[in-house]
Amino acid sequence: MGLFSSGFNVNKVREDFPFISNNKDAIYFDNACMSLKPKQVIDKMLEYYTLYTACGGRSHHKFSERVNEEVEKARLEVKKLINARSEKEIIFTKNTTESINLVAKSLGLRKGDEVIITDKEHNSNLLPWLRLNKDKGIIVKIMVSNQDNTFNIENFKRALTKNTKLVSVHHRSNLDGVTNPIEEISKLTHRNGSLLLVDAAQSVPSMEIDVKKLNIDFIAFSGHKMLAPTGVGVLYGKLELLSKLSPFILGGETVSDSSYDSYTLKEVPHRFEAGLQNYAGIIGFGEAIRYLKKVGFNNIEKQEAALNKLVTERLMNNSKIELIGPKDYKLRGNIFSFNIKGMEPHNVSSILNSSANIAVRSGAHCVHSWFNKHKLKGSVRASLYFYNTEEEALKFAEEVERIAGMV
Ligand code: ALA
Repeated sequence: MGLFSSGFNVNKVREDFPFISNNKDAIYFDNACMSLKPKQVIDKMLEYYTLYTACGGRSHHKFSERVNEEVEKARLEVKKLINARSEKEIIFTKNTTESINLVAKSLGLRKGDEVIITDKEHNSNLLPWLRLNKDKGIIVKIMVSNQDNTFNIENFKRALTKNTKLVSVHHRSNLDGVTNPIEEISKLTHRNGSLLLVDAAQSVPSMEIDVKKLNIDFIAFSGHKMLAPTGVGVLYGKLELLSKLSPFILGGETVSDSSYDSYTLKEVPHRFEAGLQNYAGIIGFGEAIRYLKKVGFNNIEKQEAALNKLVTERLMNNSKIELIGPKDYKLRGNIFSFNIKGMEPHNVSSILNSSANIAVRSGAHCVHSWFNKHKLKGSVRASLYFYNTEEEALKFAEEVERIAGMV
């Protein structure tokens, strides 16, 4: 256990992140977009590039065999992380977006089939369904959230019909940090005979998820938000469902044989991993999971909540600040999303950047549809992670107060 055996110590944890020591004065609050990487993950990727740089799957020398071994170890880490039944249920993709597109393209939805989503989905869980509506005539039902942006279970019950083939919802919103009640959503979805796809890009980095307990059919997430390299993500699917999907990209390593007029697909998951893979990324992803487990999801959740509490208590009663989402910080995970009345969100983030070296994201956060509906240009979003400190949270709140005082 080493580092964390004597309890969670944020200053000790920070020593693992070269970004932090290289940017001593910076406050990095853009973790929902991209997390920082610990040296353990960077070293693991370097290991691939310096010790056993080779193709996986194809060649039969010792370097290639090592790649296969490391990739399968990473797959096993993912399997254990989400408590899948088998590592065959883990497909490596480029990111959450590709994972959701894989399901949308491969599920074989037909004219009149209904897909239910919420009014707060990221473009990656909206556009694939809108395209199927245009191309195939599937019906996309958009559930309206409560006034405070939490999930409206009654609207959901009303939306389910005998034609509902799929419910595709986010777990934690990247817009405001609200976590949807997946257990209840799952029960209602399955009682209706429909399938459940969960966009877990913002939840897997921060909380323990058990796909068996929650009875999730498909789950999509990305490595880059959970300490892993960019360009690697996961689609989990129940094995019996994956076996029925038709892969939407074919090519190298997806088949065991081919002739000029036919081919034989490989077993799941390999039939879905077409072309040369991001080996260093996948191997780094495995290491990121090992690191997160050492930190402990209970510590991650506690630290995020403590920081969000500080920021919320300090800023919530400021009449110039409009919070997005529920007032209670406990309902907003690691996110504090807001606007300063009379100021453009990009201007606020630019001032935070130039005057205090604070990095946040501003704009529509790829949820343009929600902002358009609410006639807002966007928001300023601070997204916290376990390596952020209370001093940083207070400094951020002070700066926001100062900027709000300028209008
Ligand atoms: N989905 C990412 C974000 O919310 C990119 O910033």
